[in-house]
Amino acid sequence: MRVLFVCLGNICRSPTAEAVFRDLVLERDHGDRVEVDSCGLLDYHEGNPPDARATAAAAGRGLDLTTQRARQIEDADFEQFDLVLALDREVLRSLRTLAPDGTLERVQPFLGFGGAPGAARDVPDPYYGGAQGFEDALDLIEDGSRVLLADVEARLEAHDG
Ligand code: 4NP
Repeated sequence: MRVLFVCLGNICRSPTAEAVFRDLVLERDHGDRVEVDSCGLLDYHEGNPPDARATAAAAGRGLDLTTQRARQIEDADFEQFDLVLALDREVLRSLRTLAPDGTLERVQPFLGFGGAPGAARDVPDPYYGGAQGFEDALDLIEDGSRVLLADVEARLEAHDG
């Protein structure tokens, strides 16, 4: 199973989601069955490491972002990943317009698996704000990753029959 997190720049939110979710996957011993990656809609930060503020906030929670490098989404991603997850609804709209025929159902909101009324739908972009925005993003990403993990585990079980 392959899971791809997508935001705008691939330097703040999606690298964080990649690290948080991978950590959960490894903790649950699914490392050999679940692959995790991230990318961005923009090519502006291509090849760059994550934003220093995102890296610092993640390090505060024991997560290492330093080896990640930004890359832009490409058509093949929609074919190769089972889930292409948007970090906010604006990214979701863009991904839906980019998705090649037959891949639309793989494109989903990252926050939205639970579907609870009133639940957050966006991880707000922390890029232009202060340090608190990165902590808030981490909180939302940690919550969303737990919900996502339950969904992924159900899919793995269904696959096992
Ligand atoms: P991200 O944050 O989408 O969470 O990586 C952003 C980073 C850079 C830009 C926008 C959002 N930018 O416009 O350069």
